[in-house]
Amino acid sequence: MELKNKKWTEEEFFRVRREVLASWPTGSSELLNLDVAIKNLKSVPDHKNFAKKMAEAKKQGRTLVQPRAGVDRIDEHITLLKFLEEAGADFLPSTIDSYTRQNRYSEAEKGIEESKRLNRNMLNGFPAVNYGVEGCMKVLDNVNVPLQARHGTPDARLLAEIIHAAGWTSNEGGAISYNIPYAKNISVEDTIKYWQYCDRLVGYYEDHGVSINREPFGPLTGTLVPASISNAVGIIEALLAAEQGVKNITVGYGMGGNVVQDVAAIKALQKQTEYYLDKFGYKDMVITTVFHQWMGGFPKNEDEAMGLISMSSTVAALSKATKMITKTPYESIGIPTKEANGRGIKASKLVVSLLKDQQYLDSKELDMEIKQIEKEVNSLLDCVFTLGNGDLAVGTVKAFEQGIIDVPFAPSKYNAGKMLPARDNEGFIRILDFGNLGFNDEIKAFHRQKMEERAKYEGRNVSFQMTVDDVYAVSEGQLIGRPKRG
Ligand code: 5AD
Repeated sequence: MELKNKKWTEEEFFRVRREVLASWPTGSSELLNLDVAIKNLKSVPDHKNFAKKMAEAKKQGRTLVQPRAGVDRIDEHITLLKFLEEAGADFLPSTIDSYTRQNRYSEAEKGIEESKRLNRNMLNGFPAVNYGVEGCMKVLDNVNVPLQARHGTPDARLLAEIIHAAGWTSNEGGAISYNIPYAKNISVEDTIKYWQYCDRLVGYYEDHGVSINREPFGPLTGTLVPASISNAVGIIEALLAAEQGVKNITVGYGMGGNVVQDVAAIKALQKQTEYYLDKFGYKDMVITTVFHQWMGGFPKNEDEAMGLISMSSTVAALSKATKMITKTPYESIGIPTKEANGRGIKASKLVVSLLKDQQYLDSKELDMEIKQIEKEVNSLLDCVFTLGNGDLAVGTVKAFEQGIIDVPFAPSKYNAGKMLPARDNEGFIRILDFGNLGFNDEIKAFHRQKMEERAKYEGRNVSFQMTVDDVYAVSEGQLIGRPKRG
């Protein structure tokens, strides 16, 4: 099929669907009959519907809390989720294991068997495809809040089919955000098609009266990502999703560390996503936001990690993001125990509860930063539309080929990797080397000046060493990687 940003016809969708469902035995479940699946999804009560609970939180101006969590033995996974619900999670995840993310279901199967034999978890998440619709339904039956798959899967078509048919009403990911930070050799053209499929499936459900939430993965590589780049990517994925019929979208942002910039980023993201969807004629959309607690390197010390989690929660609450993804005091160690995960939730919930009636005050600095992000996002998106001759899908492929959109520290060979970020003298994430980013001269001059200010203060030249120092700074207890004086 030729790549374009156009809603797939049902015929196109069903043709591909036959292949997707035939790719692993659990794809043949009769629960994947769409009439059956719609009936099942309609029986999911409102309080377990992700899209409805997000819309309600937005109306009330609340920031709800969601952890990451997933283990491979299904009974233990259910125990884990119940424990996190008890700890206060407003939404539950199922973090999917790495084999499933790479469509290596036979290896996931071996992992499940090994885990049973050795009585310990051998996979790093929940292998939803192997458990199939029936297994995923059992998980949902045992919890009382909405359930979402969180993963990092470039081709999540079968996974999306299985989880939605099981009544899980949200799926994370997108053509760029689940490719560029996660894969090396998969083209953007391929992942646009894979995610058009996932979105078209949701569009089919929406056309039949079922609300399902979709969430582009905002933080990308989670390391010094400039707000305008992640916001532009989120808006592109929201537009691509809306074209396929998605109505409920949660756009995301990973904490950068400067409070003004973080609040500005969430505000700009909400506003510009709504603006662009409206501009291209997508009506009746429900747009919400998600703030990710610090996604970069964490301090090893658990108490320090809890401090960082609390700061993240403060900023999320003040920004009025609709949802926040929590971290745990074990972040620097690996996959958390359920107790550690629960501690992250409890600390986070307390902070958002204390701040629920407050928000970050308007100020000149906030206003300027919002305007700066908006200007940069507009510049990037203008380039993308021009490159695609008006077609967003084509423009996106070209923008990555040419480095017009460039994600820092990404493993993908389809990403230019020429742009370099660094913090300015107040810790705002700025751009030190533009590569081929789609920025005009005015924007470039602004960044250059900000980097010069820092260089002067630190008595060194603007250089890659600043980027390196910044990458490690937070895990060492500082936001800005100041030069080490010997
Ligand atoms: N359970 C909990 N957290 C997980 N993460 C990855 N897999 C799991 C899992 N199975 C978390 C990492 C990191 C983020 C990207 O996802 O710890 O915080």
